[in-house]
Amino acid sequence: MKELSGPIGMNILVIGSGGREHALVWKIRQSPRVSQVYCAPGNGGIAGLAECVDIKADDISGLLKFAQERSIDLTVVGPEVPLVMGIVDIFEKAGLKAFGPSKAAACLEGSKAFAKEFMTRHCIPTAEYGSFDDILQGREFLKQCQYPLVVKADGLAAGKGVIICQDKAEAEEALRSIMFDHIFKDAGKRVVIEEFLVGEEASILAVADGNDFIILETSQDHKRIFDNDLGPNTGGMGAYSPAPVVTPVLMGRIAETVIRPVVDGMRRDGVPFKGILYAGVMVTAEGPKVLEFNTRFGDPETQAVLPRLKSDIVDMMLGSVEGRLATMKLEWDSRACVCVVMAAGGYPGDYASGKEIQGLSDVGDDAVVFHAGTKQEGGRIVSSGGRVLGVTALGQGIAQAIAQAYAAAGKIGFDGVQYRRDIGRKALNRT
Ligand code: AMP
Ligand code: GLY
Repeated sequence: MKELSGPIGMNILVIGSGGREHALVWKIRQSPRVSQVYCAPGNGGIAGLAECVDIKADDISGLLKFAQERSIDLTVVGPEVPLVMGIVDIFEKAGLKAFGPSKAAACLEGSKAFAKEFMTRHCIPTAEYGSFDDILQGREFLKQCQYPLVVKADGLAAGKGVIICQDKAEAEEALRSIMFDHIFKDAGKRVVIEEFLVGEEASILAVADGNDFIILETSQDHKRIFDNDLGPNTGGMGAYSPAPVVTPVLMGRIAETVIRPVVDGMRRDGVPFKGILYAGVMVTAEGPKVLEFNTRFGDPETQAVLPRLKSDIVDMMLGSVEGRLATMKLEWDSRACVCVVMAAGGYPGDYASGKEIQGLSDVGDDAVVFHAGTKQEGGRIVSSGGRVLGVTALGQGIAQAIAQAYAAAGKIGFDGVQYRRDIGRKALNRT
């Protein structure tokens, strides 16, 4: 056997409670470097793989205290809120390693106006836009716009801060609701108004260490609640990887016109980017354009990407934290992966919780069920969120991955369950 060089017996803390964090914990547990994994706060599925600790993801001082008491060697931050609050800076100042961007670098996600200004300055392709903290100036700008257009709250709004407007009246209403009625609270103190882009979306995730980066395998999310991309937006109803809309030529173009300029630009601006850079890209007739940046793993994309990663994810994360990515490579499974999200009835609107989930033990080895909104209650697993499970399968080609994921989903049930039946169909249509 090959000797393992570098750290062993590591204690890892994962922060978050969704399907993304379940997939992260599942992958981290496969690392021979790891001895103990904690998750704060975790969920009913994560509890089977890690010790869940009852500390909220935005309780930074509570998390720091826990990490110090338990001699955590690496903290992995799942969601955006603690990143934007500056958790990585605070942990590093205390001498602890944390995977993710600094507070200043997380502005790429935390402020859409910052991201747009950055892209303009570094010639990164994106929709034309204006940004306003004054409603009257925003209304004036609307007069010279073409429709449809998109009005976005500047700050974090849990993926809900985007309103697509068909005409000027709708755009004025959107401005009023964000800047006057404060429907997104402080996130709407400033708005970005941008050109509506037409095309197919893809999620490009790269891991960066401030100087260098490695692009992960591609994926595609399914944002709308119903089949054929109908109905309201959700946190994501399913994902698959790879996304064939991103051909090798297109990938090269995205690397050179988006990912490299972000990593180089942030470094030159004095805010080196470490962690996961997620570019939501629209493949338009004019080429790829950035819809948004996230500064963390996507959910559910992570659930479709990590099962394909053959390399040790802890090595990858240490490479990012310690600035060693230039000498590293990631190995991938050539199979396709599909994740079908099973959601509570009524989601993304009001939904009921506490529904017992049946059939989890009937799922065989062909699939993995990542838990998103679940908890353990007296020996049962019950729902506790809008997105409840991410049923994930690999396959030789996308058709087999789709078939295996849906076969597994068919074995699971809970009162009111809803899920899309067309996850992966766009990829199937391209093959
Ligand atoms: P965001 O949170 O910025 O990614 O926006 C959420 C979703 O809104 C995206 O995944 C797109 O489906 C849609 N969207 C955002 N910006 C635009 C745009 N400029 N043109 C068309 N669709 C958009
Ligand atoms: N899947 C979209 C996101 O993670 O924001």
